[in-house]
Amino acid sequence: FENSWNPNRSHEKYNYGWPFVIPKISESAYVLDVGCHTDSAHGRLPNNRVYGIDPAGKNADFVGTILEFEHPEKFDVAVSWGAINFGSQEKIDAEKKIEPKDWMPDGYRSHLIRQISQHAHSEIIGMQPEGNWITRAPSLRAKMILLAKVQDEAGHGLYLYSACETLGVTRDELNKQLHEGKAKYSSIFNYPTLSWADMGAIGWLVDGAAIVNQVSLQKTSYGPYSRGMIKICKEESFHQRQGYEIMTEMANGTKEQKKMAQDALNRFWWPSIMMFGPHDSDSPRTGNAMKWKIKRKTNDELRQNFIDKTVAQADLIGLKIPDPDLKWNEERGSYDFGEIDWDEFWNVVNGDGPCNEQRLNHHKKAHDDGEWVRDAVKAYAKKSA
Ligand code: 3HC
Repeated sequence: FENSWNPNRSHEKYNYGWPFVIPKISESAYVLDVGCHTDSAHGRLPNNRVYGIDPAGKNADFVGTILEFEHPEKFDVAVSWGAINFGSQEKIDAEKKIEPKDWMPDGYRSHLIRQISQHAHSEIIGMQPEGNWITRAPSLRAKMILLAKVQDEAGHGLYLYSACETLGVTRDELNKQLHEGKAKYSSIFNYPTLSWADMGAIGWLVDGAAIVNQVSLQKTSYGPYSRGMIKICKEESFHQRQGYEIMTEMANGTKEQKKMAQDALNRFWWPSIMMFGPHDSDSPRTGNAMKWKIKRKTNDELRQNFIDKTVAQADLIGLKIPDPDLKWNEERGSYDFGEIDWDEFWNVVNGDGPCNEQRLNHHKKAHDDGEWVRDAVKAYAKKSA
């Protein structure tokens, strides 16, 4: 902080100094200058309506921290120059992580709340299609692996909800948005899981797509999200491998097993590439997401990356990607692929997919059934406080 804020540097040189603030506040406003240092702000406001506190500023009106500070009067405005000048676009451009206490453009905050909460909802709702096969797993080993994976997804949801809460939103609010249809979750989880091979297809394709997306998100500009991604990516690789192992075994198994694996690939291939979102040209959020370095690669870049790495994996186990237009393009060094059915995509995103109602009702019921657990935790916390 000391080497970012130079008390002798005039406020005019900062994006958000007194010249920016004064026109925005009323003449009669009583202003608290938090971290005023020995700031000479006092002459700047009519009738000197500013009170400065600073733990290190010996000329401050109150020498101490905001936590120790008490005052008989109410303040209309509080400014904290350090916070509002250092979470800037320059900081993002300089690849410094934005942390919860940094100032951030309102748009940045709301964009992150949207993306991280929907990411978290996806992790939790994503437990349902796979949870459906825990009691039906073909062996104890398969059951244990699937249990571990589904449990991981719950943990991923927790990391992401916690990262989202650092932006000033509560878990209850996020759940309410999901239950009221005001928040989305990934379209992929609105498809049914009809056979054991679907567990393989989900691990291989859905977690494979998630890895491509999340490896890129490890470099996102928001600190808590980036750190959550680093943790999640470590576990995601296990998810993808366990799925590919199921598909490999079945593709090399009996005729019926190979047919089951190919059927799962046929049903999950296109919904998996839809996970990356609309084409960049139709993606209203990508512009800001890239400017603020929330996203580091665009939807189409990530989708292409996923396709290029997955086709070889399918070939290796003798399964066929269900896209007649899939063709290696030597010039581009990538696969050309067929047109995505965007009507299907938007239908599913907008709630008319095969399992949307079932997934949301299940989430609501689980949330209601868990009320007593939350009450017990609160009662215990109160008792032990
Ligand atoms: N499913 C549902 N909604 C989708 C979607 C999809 N596959 N793709 C895009 N959308 C929504 C967006 O949320 C946005 O809606 P909103 O404005 O109401 O939020 C709208 O469609 C327009 O899309 P944009 O491309 O403009 O939106 P984004 O820039 O946010 O890009 C995204 C969409 C690529 C999903 C991006 O939000 C992202 O990378 N999110 C983080 C990763 C994530 O959520 N992954 C979901 C799967 S989680 C998972 O797979 C867990 C694994 O363990 C199984």
